[in-house]
Amino acid sequence: MLQVPFTDLPASPVWPAALGVPAITLLPASTPAAFAIVSETPAHVPARETLLDRAMGPGRTRKSSEAIRRNRRPAEGLAFSATAPDGALLGTLRLWHIAAGQCDGEAVSALLLGPLAVEPTAQGLGVGGALVRHAVATAKVAGHGAIVLVGDPEYYARFGFSAAQTTGLAMPGPFEPRRLLALELIANTLRGAAGLIRPTGALCDEIDASRSGNDLGSSEAISAAA
Ligand SMILES: CC(C)(COP(=O)(O)OP(=O)(O)OC[C@H]1O[C@@H](n2cnc3c(N)ncnc32)[C@H](O)[C@@H]1OP(=O)(O)O)[C@@H](O)C(=O)NCCC(=O)NCCS
Repeated sequence: MLQVPFTDLPASPVWPAALGVPAITLLPASTPAAFAIVSETPAHVPARETLLDRAMGPGRTRKSSEAIRRNRRPAEGLAFSATAPDGALLGTLRLWHIAAGQCDGEAVSALLLGPLAVEPTAQGLGVGGALVRHAVATAKVAGHGAIVLVGDPEYYARFGFSAAQTTGLAMPGPFEPRRLLALELIANTLRGAAGLIRPTGALCDEIDASRSGNDLGSSEAISAAA
């Protein structure tokens, strides 16, 4: 768990250097006393869906990225929540297994990032950045080669994402090429990658059928939400 305390903050607090988040100088009265980045649990799912509805609007389930996520499980250990001290959900981010096209006839294994959303009252405080950095670091430690996403380059450039390695790739639906971004965790993972991005993660039904029925995990609501 990554914990980011800002209790006993001075007037001009400095964020923990480990987060790589720049210093901020002003905290609104609504600022939560602290937040933590934790693994998503089933208890977070209802609040996550409410947050995503509010942050992204009713059209969120029609996005091309959602077609890749629909009825799939997030990559093992790569679904995260940002929580307040009282356990309230402040933010959500998950990573999904994909094939980022092909290279030399072989599927290029990578991860898809998203959706990322932060509670409106907690935006601008580094929660989104902490979620992205934690997810990237965890994926890297787990040995994944690259992360792809569809999002605003103006936001994701600060984490190293760019469209430089996605020129040969396409989403399974409408997308703006300038918003199809990637970050290589292992150099040259996406070199020569071309073609359609498609899901490769486990289907919810496959996993659920193989379990006893009392440990469905967080993705049981994914298909319902998609
Ligand atoms: C985008 C989002 C996740 C950022 O979370 P956050 O916790 O507010 O982000 P941080 O506090 O880490 O970073 C804030 C910085 O990002 C910038 N930023 C936020 N959204 C941005 C965007 N879409 N494009 C460019 N910059 C953006 C802010 O202006 C701020 O810049 P500053 O550091 O120069 O002041 C959050 O605003 C959100 O949930 N938005 C609605 C859902 C959404 O659009 N998600 C997809 C993102 S493409």
